[in-house]
Amino acid sequence: MESEYLVEVRDLVKWFPIKSSFFRRTTGNVRAVDGISLKIRRGQTMGLVGESGCGKSTAGRTMLRLLERTSGDVIFDGQDIFKLPKEELRRMRPRMQIVFQDPYSSLNPRQSVADLIADPLYINKVHKNRRERDENVRKLMDTVGLARRVENSYPHELDCYDFCHSANYVFYNINYYKGI
Ligand SMILES: Nc1ncnc2c1ncn2[C@@H]1O[C@H](COP(=O)(O)OP(=O)(O)OP(=O)(O)O)[C@@H](O)[C@H]1O
Ligand SMILES: [Mg+2]
Repeated sequence: MESEYLVEVRDLVKWFPIKSSFFRRTTGNVRAVDGISLKIRRGQTMGLVGESGCGKSTAGRTMLRLLERTSGDVIFDGQDIFKLPKEELRRMRPRMQIVFQDPYSSLNPRQSVADLIADPLYINKVHKNRRERDENVRKLMDTVGLARRVENSYPHELDCYDFCHSANYVFYNINYYKGI
């Protein structure tokens, strides 16, 4: 049965231990996320706002299990993501993405736009062969209005508009192809 909420976070806590330089003993904790709860319905957008260092990114990373939690639960589409075995979590990964604040730091400067878009498709084995993948990279670029002229460009050669676009595709295209 499809759950009413796509994301449910219950009392999520993420602390980072502070280690002393001597003996590497834990001397305290950075309480980056200290008990947040939220629910997001399908198709709904939620904004998390706060001053720098208040724990927004840590909350996002822990919700995707890119970081292990200290305590609390995260339910994604009815599944408790901290209880998922590795293989199932891997299958879930393409559906849970972070679009980074700063596109310049989220793109590999040594990859062309086409390769940046193709990479996640390749990693997630979306296409059978290279030709099919190249065709779909171009189709994706057309669909979202990214000019073909930037296909072989590298991140530093792009203007900000093209850049933000390509950064977002890298993270969104898998979902697009899987029809999620
Ligand atoms: N890997 C880590 N190890 C130790 N402390 C960390 C780690 N990551 C984040 N922190 C600390 O956790 C707190 C929250 O950081 P976080 O990056 O989540 O804040 P933020 O709200 O995303 O800030 P910004 O608006 O600047 O992006 C900060 O005090 C930060 O120094
Ligand atoms: Mg942040």
